[in-house]
Amino acid sequence: MNITGAVALVAGGGGGFGAATARRLHAAGASVVICDLDAVKGKAVVEDLGERAVFVETDVTDEASVQAAIDAAEKLGSLRITVIAHGGPGGGRTLNRENEPIAQDDFMRVVNIFLGASYNLIRMTAASMAKTEPLETGERGVIINTASIAAFDGTIGQAAYSAAKGGIVGMTLPIARDLSPIGVRVMTIAPGTFLTPAFGDADPVKLDAYWGAAVPFPKRMGRPEEYAQLALQICENPYLNGETIRLDGALRFTPKGA
Ligand SMILES: NC(=O)c1ccc[n+]([C@@H]2O[C@H](COP(=O)([O-])OP(=O)(O)OC[C@H]3O[C@@H](n4cnc5c(N)ncnc54)[C@H](O)[C@@H]3O)[C@@H](O)[C@H]2O)c1
Repeated sequence: MNITGAVALVAGGGGGFGAATARRLHAAGASVVICDLDAVKGKAVVEDLGERAVFVETDVTDEASVQAAIDAAEKLGSLRITVIAHGGPGGGRTLNRENEPIAQDDFMRVVNIFLGASYNLIRMTAASMAKTEPLETGERGVIINTASIAAFDGTIGQAAYSAAKGGIVGMTLPIARDLSPIGVRVMTIAPGTFLTPAFGDADPVKLDAYWGAAVPFPKRMGRPEEYAQLALQICENPYLNGETIRLDGALRFTPKGA
């Protein structure tokens, strides 16, 4: 798909993957709507990008909030690209050290933000794409989800996160099939360990050395720009549809992760 002139909505656009992808799409000629709960981070990206970029303070778990972001996108032109890269809470072990069960609400909160909110973004942005004029190729748009390799080899304490990310992998094909009549493709990226703000304020060199040691090659964490590079390819390559791509340097988590 030709990115020049397209409008992209990036959920979690102030974060590691979101900001890198927004920058890449913007450089390729797209207008971008940065959606993030964190106004400081989101506005910083928009200020950096300058024209063709707007920030909308968005809670992806809230329908009205997502609609406001879509409205902002539609003001810029035809919404053709959705990138879903928001963060959320971690989980916990199924039983704690006293063998008491984790609160069911904790499980549901993780599933709701990672899986439920992703589906909400997909269905609502797809409806916006459906209203646009198709391109010459018949294509109207592309939706990129973010799963994780925890969808396949989740570690101890990752049941809820793995369930949510596995759900994203599982729904990729059926939604691609659902949206094929309107010419909207659906793809999922399943990253390994990437050096983003999700890892907190720890020294990046130490983080890279710790997490990178488990990666067969290249022996380092991934860079958000490498996620963005794949996202751009997914946008541009019309034959990528209904599939999940691992982006992990051949990393497979052990039960404890790295
Ligand atoms: N970094 C990694 O190693 C890695 C690996 C696999 C998967 N992922 C997944 O990639 C996605 C993005 O991760 P990241 O590393 O870029 O994280 P990040 O923390 O750098 O960015 C996430 C962004 O989402 C925003 N956010 C959080 N809750 C939100 C909400 N309710 N509504 C709107 N915005 C909200 C945050 O403010 C933040 O800017 C997540 O789904 C994460 O699970 C990350």
